[in-house]
Amino acid sequence: MILKSILLQNFRSYSQKEFQFGEDTTIIIGANTVGKTNLIEAIFFVAQGRSFRVDKDEQLIKFEKSVARIKGKTEDKDLEAVIVQGGMEGRLRPFKKYLVNGVSKRKIDFIGNFFAVLFAPSDLDIIIGNPSKRRDFIDNVLSQVDKDYRQALTFYQKGLRIRNALLHKAKEEGRRSEKEFLYWDNLLINQGQKLTRKREDFITYLENSKKEILNFEIFYDKSAISRERLLQYKEAEVGAGVTLVGPHRDDFYIRINANDIRYFGSRGQQRLAILQLKLLELAFIQEKTEERSVLLLDDIFSELDEEHINLVLGMIGSQQTIITTTHLEFIPKKILKEMAVISLDKEK
Ligand SMILES: Nc1ncnc2c1ncn2[C@@H]1O[C@H](COP(=O)(O)OP(=O)(O)O)[C@@H](O)[C@H]1O
Ligand SMILES: [Mg+2]
Repeated sequence: MILKSILLQNFRSYSQKEFQFGEDTTIIIGANTVGKTNLIEAIFFVAQGRSFRVDKDEQLIKFEKSVARIKGKTEDKDLEAVIVQGGMEGRLRPFKKYLVNGVSKRKIDFIGNFFAVLFAPSDLDIIIGNPSKRRDFIDNVLSQVDKDYRQALTFYQKGLRIRNALLHKAKEEGRRSEKEFLYWDNLLINQGQKLTRKREDFITYLENSKKEILNFEIFYDKSAISRERLLQYKEAEVGAGVTLVGPHRDDFYIRINANDIRYFGSRGQQRLAILQLKLLELAFIQEKTEERSVLLLDDIFSELDEEHINLVLGMIGSQQTIITTTHLEFIPKKILKEMAVISLDKEK
């Protein structure tokens, strides 16, 4: 799938700006803070209905404005996301609107119309960061390709918040009221088991796939949820005041020669591992959706040596790719000749 253009209105540093993209590779070049990552963030938003770097969507609205708009055009769809500050249209809290071909959609139906795989320097955290980074990676991939997963995740997260609030109360009071828990236990078990099953399939896919850049073993360290397990942890949960079992405590780890790469890998191996994971993410999305994703490479070259740069550039053959960089010198001249270049300057 190709992103033909994107229009940004009051999004981050942009007042009003349209970008056109070719089918192959586009390089976005510009100095620091000129708005390169903001553009990548907007493209990602068209794919996933959210930002990859903020939790509070309001931060995406240009300072002193109240509505941000992103309009992406693929070959056959107009995809529009609108982010509105609280206090507008009679609503207290900030909200978002999603439209496909001008028709209003729920977020869950907006996602899945266009696919993007992002690779940024901070992705190294998937390898070296805490377990939540790895869960986010899995959620991010599976949410893109699987509507049931998106739905289950939304229900699970909501149920977990409420169940944790009940446990917090139980901890204060020193006892839990069984009646209150029944509904939320069932919800967490049903939705949680769905998430576990789908995560298991994904990890198995990663484990069984050919890995050309770095061969590793990957293990799913799952926290299964079931009636029995909840019963087993009942006392401990009242003590802790939070839910102690379930996919919100999952992790996975990557091993090379029986050693966990998080602790024993060199930085070079860790970089190769994330590159390999991203390649597998591209392949997985293609297998599940029969669509190619757009590959977004945000400012990754400044941290890589020549060998790694060439490996990355080897990834970009077969799908539309949008690359940001501060210096064109990072990209070998031979390859640069075939790329479209967009220069960004500070908006006046
Ligand atoms: N909501 C916003 N309104 C206006 N400007 C913003 C907003 N959010 C970020 N910016 C500005 O965007 C710039 C950073 O843009 P970014 O895309 O991260 O730069 P880079 O080109 O280095 O990737 C900063 O100057 C920041 O002040
Ligand atoms: Mg940047």
